[in-house]
Amino acid sequence: MCKKRVVLICFLFFIVQNAHSEEATSTARNVTSSSSKDTRQLVSMPEQTLEIMRQDMLEHLATLSEIIGYLAANNLEAAADVAEKKMGRSSMGKHRGTGMGPGRFMPPAMHSIGRGMHEAASEVATAAKQGDLKGAYTSLQKVTSSCVACHYSYRTR
Ligand code: HEC
Repeated sequence: MCKKRVVLICFLFFIVQNAHSEEATSTARNVTSSSSKDTRQLVSMPEQTLEIMRQDMLEHLATLSEIIGYLAANNLEAAADVAEKKMGRSSMGKHRGTGMGPGRFMPPAMHSIGRGMHEAASEVATAAKQGDLKGAYTSLQKVTSSCVACHYSYRTR
């Protein structure tokens, strides 16, 4: 009777162990397959440029949130101001003096997506200045499409 119980416990233990190791193997498999399936083009940039770009990107994310907030509050003037100054054409070329700006290391197609993002942000500003809320949202979606287009096509690491 007691022996049977030990056998049963051993058997259950074996099942649990097995399930665990299978889980671990499939997790490891997922990690490797997701990185080997990353077909985005690798763009090499100097470390300093990567750092500049990371800062720019975080700022883009924050700016996006800020613009949405102003549009939702119907504060079109503030939305226009932030969109143009932080993400629009006026914000381009701010690293030119350093010679380390990300733009010069981008392949032409990538650079063009980046320029498109700045253009679209300026369109948001123009629409917002004219009191055209719907137009501002339409252009804002062009901005986010640029984020998506670039991130789905390129990586730097
Ligand atoms: C022209 C290409 C391009 C555009 C446009 C672009 N990004 Fe990026 N972004 C990148 C690349 C390349 C990286 C680095 C990630 C990588 O190598 O996989 C990055 C990284 C980021 C990161 C991660 C930063 C970190 O902490 O490392 C954020 C957040 C980000 N982008 C937000 C945005 C947002 C929001 C937009 C649009 C408003 C945007 N990006 C538009 C190319 C772009």
